[in-house]
Amino acid sequence: MSTGNVAVGLVGCGEISREHLKTYQSLGLKVVALCDLDRARAEKRKKEFGLEGAEILSDYRELVQRDDIELVTVATPVALHAPITLAALERGKHVACEKPSTLSIEENRQIVAAAERARRHVIFLSGRMRFGAAILARQYIKDGDVGDIYRVDVTYYRGRGRPGVDILKEARWFANKKLAGGGILMDMGQYFMDQVLNLAGWPAISSVSATTYKGFSHDLPPDVVYDVEEHATILARAGNTTFSFDFANICNHKPIRRITILGAKGGIVMDDEHYFTFFSEKCGPWRQTVHTTTWRDGTPGNDHAYSGLCKAIRGADPGIGTTPRQALAITELTQMAYRSAEEGREVRREELV
Ligand SMILES: NC(=O)c1ccc[n+]([C@@H]2O[C@H](COP(=O)([O-])OP(=O)(O)OC[C@H]3O[C@@H](n4cnc5c(N)ncnc54)[C@H](O)[C@@H]3O)[C@@H](O)[C@H]2O)c1
Repeated sequence: MSTGNVAVGLVGCGEISREHLKTYQSLGLKVVALCDLDRARAEKRKKEFGLEGAEILSDYRELVQRDDIELVTVATPVALHAPITLAALERGKHVACEKPSTLSIEENRQIVAAAERARRHVIFLSGRMRFGAAILARQYIKDGDVGDIYRVDVTYYRGRGRPGVDILKEARWFANKKLAGGGILMDMGQYFMDQVLNLAGWPAISSVSATTYKGFSHDLPPDVVYDVEEHATILARAGNTTFSFDFANICNHKPIRRITILGAKGGIVMDDEHYFTFFSEKCGPWRQTVHTTTWRDGTPGNDHAYSGLCKAIRGADPGIGTTPRQALAITELTQMAYRSAEEGREVRREELV
C-alpha cells in the first residue's frame, strides 16, 4: 500500500518542522500549505524544500478550511496542539500532532471524542521511539520470551540540555509551564512513557508517586518565564507491573538513556552502549544466555509513524502510532505525577476528574 500523494498542510514552521518536511519528501506527500504566525519562517521552509506550489499562511484556521488538504501536521508550542487538532478534526482532516500531546486530561478527552466523531486518524509523535531497538523488544515480548513483565525502569539524563534555556534558545516557550505544560517530563518523558507502556500492552496505571526538582542556575533575562521542572522521578503501579522513570534535562552526571524491562522469563536492556540486549535462563537457571545484535534500524521514527498513518488514511490497517486514547493514558500518568510531586503524596487514578 502506497503512502504517497497524501495532501498535507503544516502548522508551525520552527525547529522541528524540518524533520516533518524531510519525512514528507521521503514518503512522497504533497505539501499544499505552510502556516506560521511568523510568515518569514514558513517562507524560509518553503524555499529550503523547494515547495513552489505551497501556499503560505499565518492563520491555521485558513489552512484547515482548504478542501484539498487531507492531513494536518501540528508542530507548534504545546498549548496550541489541542486547539489546532480540534479545528482540523472539525474540518474532517486527519492529524499528525507533535508530542507532548496536550496540556490537560480534558483536552485529550476532547480529542478522543472529536476523532471518533469525525472518524479521522490522529497520531501524536510521542510514538517516534516505538521503533529502532523497541522493534526487537516488541518481537521478543510477542514471542513469549519475556513472560510476565513485572518491572520496567527508564533512566534518561542529559548533561546540559534544558530547551529554551541551554538549547533551542530561540524557543523560550519551552521554559514556560503555561505554554509547554512542564519541563523534562513533558518534553522527553512522554516519549519514554509511550515506548514502555506500548511494549507492556498499555496496562492501566492505578497510582503514582513522584518528585520534581528545579534549582540549577541559568542566564535567562529577568522577563523570561522559567517555571518548569529540570528533574522528575516517578514510581507508578499498574497491576503486577512496577514502572519507574528518572528524567533529567540537566544534571551533574554522564548522559544516560537506558530502558530495562524485566519479565519472569527474560529481561531486556536498551541503552546507548549496547543498543539491545536480551537476557534469559533458557540454558538452565545458572547459565544465563545473553543475546545482542548488530542490527540497527536505519529508518527515522518520524518516517515509520507517518508511513503507518498515511497507509491508514488510504484504508489499510497497519497499526498506527500514538492514538488519542494512548495519548490520554500518557497525559493521565503525567498529570498524576505532577500532582503527586506538588502535594507530596501518592495519587490514585480515581482522583483524576
Ligand atoms: N525542537 C525539537 O527538537 C523537537 C523535537 C521533537 C518534538 N518537538 C515538538 O515540536 C513542537 C514544536 O517545537 P519546535 O522546537 O519546532 O518549536 P519552535 O518554537 O522552533 O517552533 C514553533 C513554531 O510554531 C509557531 N507558532 C506558534 N503559534 C502558532 C500559531 N498559533 N499558528 C501557527 N504557528 C504558530 C511559532 O512561530 C514557531 O515558528 C513542540 O510541541 C515540541 O515539543 C520539538
